[in-house]
Amino acid sequence: MNQTHERLTQLQADATVFYHKARAFHWTVTGERFFSLHEQFEAIYTRWAEHIDALAEQMVINGGKPLLSLTAVAKRARIEEVEEALDARAMVETIVGDLSRLVEAINDGVRAAEKEDNRGTVNLLEGIRDQERKALWMLSALLK
Ligand SMILES: [Fe+2]
Repeated sequence: MNQTHERLTQLQADATVFYHKARAFHWTVTGERFFSLHEQFEAIYTRWAEHIDALAEQMVINGGKPLLSLTAVAKRARIEEVEEALDARAMVETIVGDLSRLVEAINDGVRAAEKEDNRGTVNLLEGIRDQERKALWMLSALLK
């Protein structure tokens, strides 16, 4: 399979673990910032549900096959899962770290798709990247 497919598969796996992590944080966040963080985590997983859908569909458009099972996703993902509830600050730090890695992985995908002259994938990934850079800036501001 080509590099674009490889990059999109990795992103699908990482994004799926990240999506579930944001849901877990939405369920378990506590503390003074409960209301704003509970809502922010929901906004994050809602956005990533859309991104995952678009990434998987792009893989099909490109003539490939997305990962079809959670077992395949878990085997492939490099984003770490959480098993325990974290405190609110650690949750935001975790999300910022994961989002930074995802943005880097998206940039790898853009480079691969440019090399393979796949404009549809480049456009999709750049759109996702720009939204997520903005989210990253806002969440990083919360940590200062
Ligand atoms: Fe909810």
